[in-house]
Amino acid sequence: MAAASDSILNFGISRSSSTSTTRSPSYSYSHRRRSSRPCSVRMQVSADAKTNNTFSLKNSEEAFSAAKDLMPGGVNSPVRAFKSVGGHPIVIDSVKGSRMRDIDDNEYIDYVGSWGPAIIGHAHDKVLAALAETMKKGTSFGAPCLLENTLAEMVISAVPSIEMVRFVNSGTEACMGALRLARAYTGKQKIIKFEGCYHGHADALLVKAGSGVATLGLPDSPGVPKAATSDTLTAPFNDFSAIEKLFETHKEQIAAVILEPVVGNSGFVVPKSDFLNAIRRITKENNTLLIFDEVMTGFRLSYGGAQEYFGIVPDLTTLGKIIGGGLPVGAYGGRRDIMEMVAPAGPMYQAGTLSGNPLAMAAGIQTLKLIKEPGTYEYLDKITGELVKGILEAGKRAGHSMCGGHINGMFGFFFTEGPVYNFADAKKSDEAKFARFYWGMLEEGVYFAPSPFEAGFTSLAHTFDDIKMTIAAAERVLLQL
Ligand SMILES: Cc1ncc(COP(=O)(O)O)c(C=O)c1O
Repeated sequence: MAAASDSILNFGISRSSSTSTTRSPSYSYSHRRRSSRPCSVRMQVSADAKTNNTFSLKNSEEAFSAAKDLMPGGVNSPVRAFKSVGGHPIVIDSVKGSRMRDIDDNEYIDYVGSWGPAIIGHAHDKVLAALAETMKKGTSFGAPCLLENTLAEMVISAVPSIEMVRFVNSGTEACMGALRLARAYTGKQKIIKFEGCYHGHADALLVKAGSGVATLGLPDSPGVPKAATSDTLTAPFNDFSAIEKLFETHKEQIAAVILEPVVGNSGFVVPKSDFLNAIRRITKENNTLLIFDEVMTGFRLSYGGAQEYFGIVPDLTTLGKIIGGGLPVGAYGGRRDIMEMVAPAGPMYQAGTLSGNPLAMAAGIQTLKLIKEPGTYEYLDKITGELVKGILEAGKRAGHSMCGGHINGMFGFFFTEGPVYNFADAKKSDEAKFARFYWGMLEEGVYFAPSPFEAGFTSLAHTFDDIKMTIAAAERVLLQL
């Protein structure tokens, strides 16, 4: 492994005293260090029910109560509302590196990373500088800019399946565009998606859509017209025989198979060996397009995404999160002959007022530059492997049934013996235990995703000390569950 040198990785910050020899910047974010304290594990932490006087969520509770009158459920995206772990969400004031700070001045080691984008850590100095520089020229042109060419070239040279790319503003838009394109290109109507895979909230895709919807206990969403989903077929992830049957039953009708190559929206679920290859084979045989939704896995499992990691080239790929460096971005891309169907090169219409805006492009370019440095994925593998191993061992010592895993900077664990191959397996996880674990960890200063059906993310800003502190906290919490 090529360990990255300090000079290459000039994060502009002080290094920690960690014993690590690999890249592991420690941000000198002048946060109060949390002392380790006895944890009182409970579903809901309220200001007047504290067992210690260092952890208060009073300001968060007040702010969230006010928010509930202003926005549905108090949030702008459902999983943030903490429905599956109970209690109120913490309200964030600022982020830097591997840390988040809430409006009560509590500091957390963050394993959500804004749901994936923060692979170099939050608010990286170089990204902030690029944004400040770009902003001097304006925030949106609604016209072509050079930064679009730069990011497009970077994406095309990194992702094996992408010969041309269209930038949009979110992962949802990317998946909507890719599906419309697949239908336009093949002239077929039906699509196959997998249970527990989430591809954004477009009508046709809001079927058995994993974490966010499951957290609310909704099988699908009211308001989605039947007609919008009548051509959406579903199968359990990792079940190739179910796919064979669908192709048999709907001969010549399937435009696309869309999937998360490693699922992050049922918790962290990896494909069985040969599952993705088998899907690649059957889609080719049936003139069906294979779409890898790499909104989460793109640039995270490797620089070229899951398709590079597994060595399988889909026809179309969707991206988001990391390529926007923390600003709103999505993209879809693929073979030139397919992409040239997109307007104005071709007849398939898709557009966006803010698409390719200079700020999002600048943040994405800086982020990709930093993760392209040697050592990135080796470092993520090392810290994340250590984290998951430590948590699972602590769980075992405390007598809990747990399983989990990681690939480079993406990970997950379940409170069930496993193995977990699909969403039905994931749902065997003890959700009440997860909720108690969740609140215990929060009180210890560790922020995981507030749902048992979400993957976790590490970043280049996480240090070995962060990992050690997290494992030590998990030991204490797991013993009390
Ligand atoms: C795999 C996947 N696809 C699509 C989306 C939708 O992206 P966005 O929330 O940017 O619309 C997500 C969001 O988490 C995702 O994880």
